[in-house]
Amino acid sequence: MRMSVIGCGYLGAVHAAAMASIGHDVIGIDVDERKISSLSDGVAPFFEPQLTELLQEGLASGRLHFSARMADAAGSAVHFLAVGTPQVAGGQAADLRFVDAAVDSLLPHLRPGDVLAGKSTVPVGTATRLAAKVAETGATVVWNPEFLREGWAVHDTISPDRIVAGVPDGADGESAADLLREVYRPAVDAGTPFLVTDLATAELVKGAANAFLATKISFINAMAEIAEAAGADVALLADALGHDTRIGRRYLGSGIGFGGGCLPKDIRAFAARAEELGRREAVGFLHEVDAINLRRRERAVRLVVDALGGLVFGARIAVLGAAFKPFSDDIRDSPALDVAIRLRGLGADVIVTDPAATENAAAVHPQLSYTRERDEALRDADAVVIVTEWDEYRRDLTPEHAGALVSKRIVIDGRNCLDSAAWRAAGWTYHGMGRR
Ligand code: UGA
Repeated sequence: MRMSVIGCGYLGAVHAAAMASIGHDVIGIDVDERKISSLSDGVAPFFEPQLTELLQEGLASGRLHFSARMADAAGSAVHFLAVGTPQVAGGQAADLRFVDAAVDSLLPHLRPGDVLAGKSTVPVGTATRLAAKVAETGATVVWNPEFLREGWAVHDTISPDRIVAGVPDGADGESAADLLREVYRPAVDAGTPFLVTDLATAELVKGAANAFLATKISFINAMAEIAEAAGADVALLADALGHDTRIGRRYLGSGIGFGGGCLPKDIRAFAARAEELGRREAVGFLHEVDAINLRRRERAVRLVVDALGGLVFGARIAVLGAAFKPFSDDIRDSPALDVAIRLRGLGADVIVTDPAATENAAAVHPQLSYTRERDEALRDADAVVIVTEWDEYRRDLTPEHAGALVSKRIVIDGRNCLDSAAWRAAGWTYHGMGRR
């Protein structure tokens, strides 16, 4: 099928390449010419495992193209809208300016029968508003939210857990649902649940999913606060809770909490929209989820200060991690960097290392020192703080190896990802978050 993907960021670039890989004829469109030229050269403009291979395959097959001209979207049966919806400056709501700009510039190229399929995370009601905007072109607006995780984006796009197709009532809606079923034919045939809903439900599914995930993480981090006061161990607690299949162990990873370009801004936008709809009391808990999450960063800093005897001024601190999570170079609202910046603000001599994100971090926070080399960061450190659980730190770094490089054997495990017994046995003072 011929299709366009409008917006080639973390979501759109992967979607475009994935759609070409399952046999569609895809044009990816973005206003950023640098991004388009990099994608056209088969180079992913950000770190995402498997994306480069998929891009190169798609370009070589002749089924994948990129362009900065919206006119090249004309003639596509379906137009996927994959632009960003960041947090609005000075408020909690989502900023829809990129969504509106994309739809406005697509309008002259829409034909009767075309489907405009929104993938961006939007406040409920957006699809209906956009439908009114495009009504006179004869195109149909549907909402097809995306649930991919950065770092697993290619896998999640090609083999999703579920596909949600929010469509309007009536015959146009039904044929749009059939068209989406065709788009995702390989996954549908493999048994992936395909849920057809109304527009508002599809928009809500996405916000609700991220709200639930954020709540799960903050729940375990709230338990970490209690465990700490009670002398218990939150990691063992999470294991024990996780064996209950109704609860499950995933997303019960305690530590410095969630960040990134999605969960933090999405729970805020979700709450802001619910409040607009007069349902403030239904989302009060999300403000708590947010507050618990932000307290974790402060807590990590306090642990470092206490571990160094109350003063970090002048201390050399190795911060292992800058990305908001492993397998990503994304530093948007990264808890890891936030901890590093706060320590720097207290006068510590902070050196940040990360296998993928130091360049992005240095561009935005030049006040920190960076190195890609883990061992260089560890050399002569007075304390080691693990804030992104890359395999390079969690799995490959032994306490003996690290111990030979540092000046003091003090480790603060901001992701509760180390074997505390092994580190202690090697002579380290180990501080977890809510761990004994
Ligand atoms: C999240 C959702 O998981 C995706 O389903 C969704 O499509 C995406 O947002 C989006 O809205 O686009 P992502 O932001 O890539 O995906 O990252 P996650 O893997 O969910 O991690 C988010 C944050 O939570 C990270 O900072 C991670 O370190 C933290 N986290 C995750 C924890 O602190 N504990 C956990 O147990 C899991």
